[in-house]
Amino acid sequence: MTANETWTVLDLLRWTTAHFAKQGIETARIDAECLLAHALSSSRLRLYLEFDKPVEESERARFRELVKRRGHDRVPVAHLTGEKEFWSLTLGVTPDVLTPRPDTETLVQAALARLPDREAEATLLDVGTGSGAIALALLSERPKLRAVATDVSAAALAVALANAERVAVRDRIDLRAGSLFEPVADERFDLIVSNPPYLAEAEAAGLAPELAFEPPEALFAGPAGTEVLRALVSGAPRHLEPGGTLLLEIAPAQAPVVAGWMRDGGFEDVCVLDDLARRPRVVVGRHARTGGDA
Ligand SMILES: C[S@@+](CC[C@H](N)C(=O)[O-])C[C@H]1O[C@@H](n2cnc3c(N)ncnc32)[C@H](O)[C@@H]1O
Repeated sequence: MTANETWTVLDLLRWTTAHFAKQGIETARIDAECLLAHALSSSRLRLYLEFDKPVEESERARFRELVKRRGHDRVPVAHLTGEKEFWSLTLGVTPDVLTPRPDTETLVQAALARLPDREAEATLLDVGTGSGAIALALLSERPKLRAVATDVSAAALAVALANAERVAVRDRIDLRAGSLFEPVADERFDLIVSNPPYLAEAEAAGLAPELAFEPPEALFAGPAGTEVLRALVSGAPRHLEPGGTLLLEIAPAQAPVVAGWMRDGGFEDVCVLDDLARRPRVVVGRHARTGGDA
């Protein structure tokens, strides 16, 4: 990609896709598209309509820098563009929040299935909201849903607040700082959702290089990895309405143990749901209609 040649949109996409693939980036083509669209202040769709258009040197210089930071430094695309698509939303992303993952859409889908009436009033608690991804996706789909979303990170809550404004649901979300159920005193909710940190500290060494750019408190729960999940399962009954549902994202290997805790804790209809890659990803349980407030 030298300065004096003519390069079209398609040439740049092809070259960059091959370059990223050589560097072991699995999402080479889509990353190339997102970065080129960003460098051209355009959209991925528009690139497809302008494959033959020559790209000016000033735009190519901007793109070259992005390609270098993605390919060589392994900076995640969302940190380079400042945004990420999640569900049907475009969310702002900074290094203070976990970049929302497509895997987490499994949790959103499962939560929506527990809110079958689009127009019904309901309440939601999202523990560890990060960018706000889960709560905002649910609020965008259910116009009468109201949410409390919490995080230990004040910086993450600032990102969630900006995103709530961006997707026009600010009036239905209450953002609160604190750990686990601390910020909700004795309040109860119809639905509690969480994609908590669930990696063990010892797993840090073997992770994809991109994860080094994510906030550690979003990834690591403690020596076992299940510490925050355990606390969520044991605390949730005191914050669920009778018959309310707890939905937790987990690492695939954690599914049996978390489902076991839920059953032992008196949750009913406990089940494990797979993501699109058929890996166990979400554990769901219904709080008993009577008693069981451990
Ligand atoms: C895996 S990220 C998930 C972010 C977002 N919900 C998503 O799905 O993209 C976990 C989030 O939980 C927050 N967190 C970690 N420990 C927490 C705790 N004890 N209580 C509340 N939030 C916590 C982190 O700051 C981080 O924002």
